[in-house]
Amino acid sequence: MQSNPTTNAATVVSGEPVTDTSVWRAADFPDDRTWVRPIPDTLVDEIDAGLPGLKALNRHPSEIRPEDFPLPRSAEFLAEIDHAIEIGPGFSLMSGFPVERYDYDDTALAYCGLAAHFGRAAIQSRAGEFVVDVSDKGVPMGTKARGHYGTTGLPFHADGANSVSLLCLQTAPKGGRSLLISGAAIYNEMLAKHPGHMDVLYRGFHHHRRDERDPGDPAVTPWRTPVFSFYDDRFHIVYIRPSIDFCEDEGIEITAEEKAAMDALDQVIARSDMQVSMHLRPGDLQIVNNFLVLHSRTEYHDAPDQKRHLIRLWLDNPNSLRNGPGKMDWYMPEHSRFLKTRGHLLEGYSVT
Ligand SMILES: [Fe+2]
Repeated sequence: MQSNPTTNAATVVSGEPVTDTSVWRAADFPDDRTWVRPIPDTLVDEIDAGLPGLKALNRHPSEIRPEDFPLPRSAEFLAEIDHAIEIGPGFSLMSGFPVERYDYDDTALAYCGLAAHFGRAAIQSRAGEFVVDVSDKGVPMGTKARGHYGTTGLPFHADGANSVSLLCLQTAPKGGRSLLISGAAIYNEMLAKHPGHMDVLYRGFHHHRRDERDPGDPAVTPWRTPVFSFYDDRFHIVYIRPSIDFCEDEGIEITAEEKAAMDALDQVIARSDMQVSMHLRPGDLQIVNNFLVLHSRTEYHDAPDQKRHLIRLWLDNPNSLRNGPGKMDWYMPEHSRFLKTRGHLLEGYSVT
């Protein structure tokens, strides 16, 4: 079901507020989960029926295509989810993925099969991971480690590729709520309340690669990635403040004007009326459009017999309506940058 690029969606112009369905607030998604989409029984049956065939193909996750895991009776449901990711609020939360039915390997494979209908599994790290377990590995986030290795709360940010998906296998007994915020709502607030900071945010920032690079590659991206941009007349947001702030450790100056712009942005992002908060349950499957929605999670505390465990996929969809600068590239060796093969080249980025 990868999106048809001709699907209509409102286009917007830099400097004008976004007025389409990608703008939303916390009140639009209350904690009662009435807006969560249960996975239909027919789709569960199709997952069950398709798994043996997918196993027999023995494909690498990045090579799984929708036709390898056919879900014809669920086409309408999948189209609705795709619409939500591309044109609606920029995210979808499904419930009832049959995580209790299979062992870990089969669960992950079935998840990859379903996710293939929304994009191709993308590499997530220099180490070559395509399927990542988000669980406590005892490593706090910093210049040497990204956020999914520890238990601390994470600032709002975007991941790589077009969308990021989480399948919840187990929750922690305390904390670990998933938080989302509409990038277009942030943009509108900044435009209305802090117009003087917009030029800095359109220009964007260098980002620290956090040790996800080859020896000899620069620690910091040589180009700036805009926070707000309008590739193909579509609004895009890319923001992860720690990766920007860490650049100072490498001698990159972040001016007072730039810090003030990010502080104002962070104040908008911190508003609880802007954030949707959800407690993922086992079997919940979340997909978030990285160019429309920023995500975060609160600190969590595992128990010896109950450890938070999610499986994460990054999904690359060249037919997405939004294919601006991919943050994924920050964490890749220079030689494997996917900006060489698709997407928009940024100023200061050279293809060799
Ligand atoms: Fe993330």
